[in-house]
Amino acid sequence: MCGIIGIIGKDNENVVAKIIKGLEKLEYRGYDSAGVAVVSDGNLSRLRAAGKLKNLIAKIEENGLSGSVGIGHTRWATHGKATENNAHPMMTKNVALVHNGIIENYRELKFELQKDGYTFSTETDTEVAAVFLQRELDRGCSPRDAFKNMLAAVEGSYAFAAIFSMLPETIMVAKNKSPLVVGFGKNMCIGSDASAISSECKEVVYLDDGDYAEVTREGVLFFDKSFNQIEKKRTPVSEDLIDSGKGTYEHFMLKEIMEQPNAIRKTILHNRIGEDILNGVSRILILACGTSYHAGLVARYWFEKFLKIPTNVEIASEYRYRSPIIEDNTLVIAITQSGETIDTLEALEYVRKHSNAKVAAIANVKNSAISRAADTVFYTEAGVEVGVASTKAFTAQLVVLAAIAFCRNEFFLQKLQNVPALCEEALALYEEIKPLAEKIKNAHSAMYLGRDVLYPIALEGALKLKEISYIHAEGFAAGEMKHGPIALIDDSVPVICLCPHNELFEKMESNIAVSMARGKNIIIFTDEIGAALLPNEAVKIVLPNINAEFAPILYSIPLQLLAYQTALIRGEDVDKPRNLAKSVTVE
Ligand code: G6P
Repeated sequence: MCGIIGIIGKDNENVVAKIIKGLEKLEYRGYDSAGVAVVSDGNLSRLRAAGKLKNLIAKIEENGLSGSVGIGHTRWATHGKATENNAHPMMTKNVALVHNGIIENYRELKFELQKDGYTFSTETDTEVAAVFLQRELDRGCSPRDAFKNMLAAVEGSYAFAAIFSMLPETIMVAKNKSPLVVGFGKNMCIGSDASAISSECKEVVYLDDGDYAEVTREGVLFFDKSFNQIEKKRTPVSEDLIDSGKGTYEHFMLKEIMEQPNAIRKTILHNRIGEDILNGVSRILILACGTSYHAGLVARYWFEKFLKIPTNVEIASEYRYRSPIIEDNTLVIAITQSGETIDTLEALEYVRKHSNAKVAAIANVKNSAISRAADTVFYTEAGVEVGVASTKAFTAQLVVLAAIAFCRNEFFLQKLQNVPALCEEALALYEEIKPLAEKIKNAHSAMYLGRDVLYPIALEGALKLKEISYIHAEGFAAGEMKHGPIALIDDSVPVICLCPHNELFEKMESNIAVSMARGKNIIIFTDEIGAALLPNEAVKIVLPNINAEFAPILYSIPLQLLAYQTALIRGEDVDKPRNLAKSVTVE
């Protein structure tokens, strides 16, 4: 979601082009408008545009914008439509401000400021923060006091960055729940994440909730929530955060799908998990959202079957609102690609408040908020994932979860070593999968069916298709079909079935037969034995044989390729699907 960047140029360098570069790096977070503001010779100026960054760049080229201190923003609309007028930075006479998060008490603040004679020109919650600062300055406050007073008044989540006309060499920042880092390099920087400023800065400070900082050319002053000056630890920017571009691929998503064998290999290598993670554990609670939630659903099958530990998997955004009970001796596992998802972070906060449970995180982004909030972190070594639809991070999450599930089971750990090579074979099926997209591209709805460990993969396959092709798709436990979803099947609805020759093959086979009796667009992903037994009227794609437990990893791959190809031929923006954000920092 919203991305923030700010740069203070050394030697009066014009930083606008660098701010745009930073915004490009933040694009993956998801946005629908963008803007930049600079302070130069005591004057603030800004340009904003709705839509993609190219619209903002065109405006800057047309109108010119320069300054050696500036802030930029990509906005993912929450309060107010994605128009130029609602785009950040918000600007008043003396302040320009960008914000990521939601100011929950904006109505009261707006009312108060209106009573004081201030007017508003946007539909956003953020504008109250800028206008509040202006009122404080008008009352004679210093920028520092104005900022402090504003922080004391706002409730909700925020990462703020503000520049002031009377303080032309400073960016003021503050964080509560939304991410923000301060970067040290030739130029001083701030950003929503370290990757956005990685070309400028080799070291960063991760701000904690309640932190406030004044960034200047000379350095940074950090303050805690009681406004006591504090020291913060600098962390080197991890090489893993620097994306290496699309290479020869048309899209990041395809590149990332193809990177899976290596991502899995590396993840296995870095995650030899000792049995001690389970010491004293009698329950496991998994908290996650979206694709990461699906990884958790797979793990539940593994944990209960092999570890014999009762396991719950919870959608993080729902979890803390139903006053759940956390039993003693629970191991909580948060699964997250970005490490920033606010729902997951808040769910962990609930866990901390209501239990003494051990908290482990499985995260892809090093030093991310969730990895810092956990007692133990297992990193998926998938490398930077830029495509909004998660692919390699998902299969790498499954690998870490398998490493936990089989930490007492050398046989399966050995079998896991074979998975990368099998994934290579699955990727080689891309040419065979491409024509299937033709069978799906005009469907108004698609169904994905699976059983047991492949049921969550049916959910994930459907999620991939809807995320990037905008075709309505649902995953179902194949046995549930008869309880309702079967009513949806007709000739126009593709039914995509996951049916390797495993213990539940016959059951799945009948579910397929039932679907085939009602529809004619049936696609089956199976293995050699399964293919020989399944009807020839269906399209069959034969995957390599794999140990049944690891089928979720392998069967994810053709579904990713199918979704990718379908979105591609429909002409959709595969890496940046509409309305979606890779990093979800508002509830
Ligand atoms: C967003 C992304 C999904 C992701 C989900 C959870 O919705 O678009 O791809 O699965 O957030 O994100 P996390 O980073 O916590 O795994």
